Amino acid sequence: MNLFLLLSLILFNELSANEINLFTTRHYDSDTIIFKEFTDQTGININIVSGKSKPLEKRILEEGKSCKGDLFFLADAGRLVSAEEKGLFKKIRSKVLEKKIPKQFRSEFWYGIAKRARIIYYNPKLISLKEIENISYEDLADERFKEAIAIRQSNNVYNQSLVASIIENHGKKYTIDWLKKFVQNFSREPAGNDRSQILSVASGESKLAIANTYYYALMASGKKGEEQQEATKKVKPYFPNQQNRGTHMNISGIGVLKHSPNPELATQFIEFLLAPKVQKHIINNTFEYPMIESVKPSILVETMGKNFKQDNSTNVSSYGKWQKDAFKIMKEAGWN
Ligand SMILES: [Fe+2]
Repeated sequence: MNLFLLLSLILFNELSANEINLFTTRHYDSDTIIFKEFTDQTGININIVSGKSKPLEKRILEEGKSCKGDLFFLADAGRLVSAEEKGLFKKIRSKVLEKKIPKQFRSEFWYGIAKRARIIYYNPKLISLKEIENISYEDLADERFKEAIAIRQSNNVYNQSLVASIIENHGKKYTIDWLKKFVQNFSREPAGNDRSQILSVASGESKLAIANTYYYALMASGKKGEEQQEATKKVKPYFPNQQNRGTHMNISGIGVLKHSPNPELATQFIEFLLAPKVQKHIINNTFEYPMIESVKPSILVETMGKNFKQDNSTNVSSYGKWQKDAFKIMKEAGWN
């Protein structure tokens, strides 16, 4: 071997020991600031591969042992469990992560970084607060809400996770019966994204909608244009299940990939994401809820509802466990 080749091999090893490859489904420009901060602090470079969850999952699986990815960042526990079940992740242990992240928001394979609530929205011109006071997701199947509710399609993972949480808490038989009635209460054929459900309530087409909290905050921030910002003024958020287990919570989370060349650095990066300063940066840009208690949600999110009871008893892994069953019974109930 000539000297030049030897040197460049050493140099390459040196370089690859000081970088991590992150596969992510997130599309926040603000994340690049976090990555830069990590590099400044540690000297470790981060290479980003971004895309949608399914194609990224496929790529990681196909590349197998030769996949150079270290980390996979996904939204929704349902997707994290699905990646876990396909054997994409490596088990890691970290005392820092175990201490900082409540048990119900992590597994041995992935860790919740931020939380989101899937809540109810209402148009006070069409339905009074009194009419929905103290309601639970379960009550949305009541006849009094006939043709009132806007919600997106059953193929959406957020909805599958919500239904999975009902299976986890009440069993499949209850959920099948519940779904039959719930679907009767749809105001329109499910279509569009979460923001479009909120817009349907604003326009008066629907009395109620179900959507994740960060979409409302995003619209209210003005980042989606003046029209959507105005729409949020006609719509009020409502946090259900306050009398029982609490409002349905989900996570965005991350895991170390099975064939990660640098699992220690990858773990270090996850720990970095849980630092107060980083958590603050994340939630101020994504409008999610922080995973650690010492950080407060962004002001826009706080004005939606302070100190509401979060469902801290249902383990988010159960959303993955029941995902396929949930989808099946949703379809069978006529939820398109
Ligand atoms: Fe989303």
